[in-house]
This record gives sequence, structure tokens and C-alpha cells, in this order.
Amino acid sequence: MTRKVIIDTDPGVDDAMAIFFALCSPELDVIGLTTVFGNVHTDLATTNALRLLEIAGRSDIPVAQGADAPLVRPYGGPVPYVHGEDGQGNVPLPPPSSKAIETQAAVFIVEQIMRAPGEITLVPLGPLTNIALALRLEPRIAHNVREVVLMGGNALCPGNATPAAEANIHNDPEAADLVFGAPWQVTMVGLDVTHRVNMTRAHLERYAQVDKPMAQHIARITPFYRDFFEKTYHCDGIYVHDSSAVAYVIDPSLFKVERWPVRVDTSSGVSRGKTWPGLGDPLPPPWQGRPLVNVCVEVDGERLIEMEYERVCQSSP
Ligand code: RIB
Ligand code: CA
Repeated sequence: MTRKVIIDTDPGVDDAMAIFFALCSPELDVIGLTTVFGNVHTDLATTNALRLLEIAGRSDIPVAQGADAPLVRPYGGPVPYVHGEDGQGNVPLPPPSSKAIETQAAVFIVEQIMRAPGEITLVPLGPLTNIALALRLEPRIAHNVREVVLMGGNALCPGNATPAAEANIHNDPEAADLVFGAPWQVTMVGLDVTHRVNMTRAHLERYAQVDKPMAQHIARITPFYRDFFEKTYHCDGIYVHDSSAVAYVIDPSLFKVERWPVRVDTSSGVSRGKTWPGLGDPLPPPWQGRPLVNVCVEVDGERLIEMEYERVCQSSP
């Protein structure tokens, strides 16, 4: 039985890899992409989402454009030094021939979930603005979604956007606090595990050897992104963020989780955007009454990297 998923995305180099990974996995049925600001402005996120589906030969999948700014504060802007000006590693790409649907992302998410109660898994790979807007539009999606598996947050480790906060949460902390507080099952695939999934240069170079459109696109867009990681973290290769969330949906046994309530710092201080797990008993008041989040704390990184490579390079057309 394939799992229906909606991927909310800000492509983004690692978003591109995650979307291909999902499209090449028989366990998943990607029923739509929704786009959001983050790595790039929302218009470009939509253009890139359409481009990626064309490269994958899946322009049948609808793309619904979403929010272009966070719920409360102004958007902090794109990160061209990480993903390139074009969000795809600064490789020249033709404009997509397909177009986004008219339906706004939040409306698309509500319509799809309410039409198929218990069947749809939401996979947010960017700021959680669209997910929060969908909750506000129709709170009953919390009882009708199968699960929310998101890439974001940092429970017991430092951030990446700031020393305190991970980029997706930092881009819209108010939206994230709403998402972690709603009465649905959320799994947080955060830096606690993604910073332990190290896809090295040797891993990445394998994609260039595979004569398939998706593998070739990955080989083209990752060198710029890899250079950022190697300069910033003095590592070999990259850390695997968005694909780790897709891997969780396919095979949760890759991860160890702890079940904690999660609050997000929505202040204006230096820790804005930090995800704080509620530890200890009794819980302090701000964590009381909040649903328990599956917080990923350990991962089999090697197995995850091999799974992604096999799906994209060996099982795709
Ligand atoms: O912190 C990593 C996350 O922020 C990933 O989703 C990456 O694509 C960026 O959106
Ligand atoms: Ca992303």
C-alpha cells in the first residue's frame, strides 16, 4: 500500500534531492508539491518545483504556490551563498514549460487531506508557514492527516541558521510553534540527526556516473552546495537534511526517536527559532498539555545514504 504524501518545499538543492528520492520510492505516492519561501523566494521555489518534476518526467503532479512571507515577521531573505542565486547550485536551467495550479498551497493541503481522511502524510521541507495557514483554514486537518514528518528544528544540538536555531524553524518560529502544538502526530527530523548523515564527495560523485536525468541533475547542482558545507563545517561533502525526512516516511527504522512535547522560542532574543523539547517531570507550564512529538535523536546515516542512491540511480527510469 503506497503512502500518499504532499511535500511542502523551498527548492533548494537538498529539497531537489529529497523530491527525486520520494518520486523514485515505490512506497510513496507524491500527490502534490506546495511551495514556500525559505532557500529562495516563493516564485522561484515554484519555478524550481516545476523544473524538478519535468526532469523527473512527472509534470502530472500538481504544484500549488504558497506563502511568500512568514506569519508575523518579515522574511529574512534567500540564502544564495548556500543554494545559489537560482536555488539550484547556479546551474543554467531552462524555464519550466508547465505551470502551477491556481489553488493556493494552504487550500490545496486542506482539500487533499479532508478528501482522504487518514491517508495523507505531510512532508514539510521548508518553513512551516503553509502548514500553519492550512491549520488556521481548517483545524480538522489535524484529525484527518495521517502524520506530519518535517525536516526542521534542533532539540539537543546547536542551530545552523544561528547558533540557536535551525533554518526552517528560524524562518517562521510562530508557524512552527502552532504546528508542534496542534493535535496531530508530528515527527521532527532535525539537525540532531541530519548533521549525522554525511554524504561525502565519494558518495556524491557516484551520481555523475549514472546516465539518468535525475542523477545528472543532482551531480550538476551539488558541487556549489557541497563547497558551502566544506567551507562552513570543514567536512567532506554535505549533511543530508531534506532527504532524511523522506527516508523517515519510507523506513522509520532508520531512526531512534524520543517522544517529547516541543515549544519554539518566538521571542525577539538571540534564541529566536530554537526548538525546545519538554524534558523532566513535572513539565514546566509552557510544555504542559502539548502533544508528544517524535523527535529523531539517532540515525543509521550510511543505510539512509545507500537507500537514497539506490532509489534515484537504480530504480528510476
Ligand atoms: O536547515 C536545513 C533546512 O533549511 C533544509 O530544508 C534546507 O533546504 C533549508 O530549507
Ligand atoms: Ca528545504
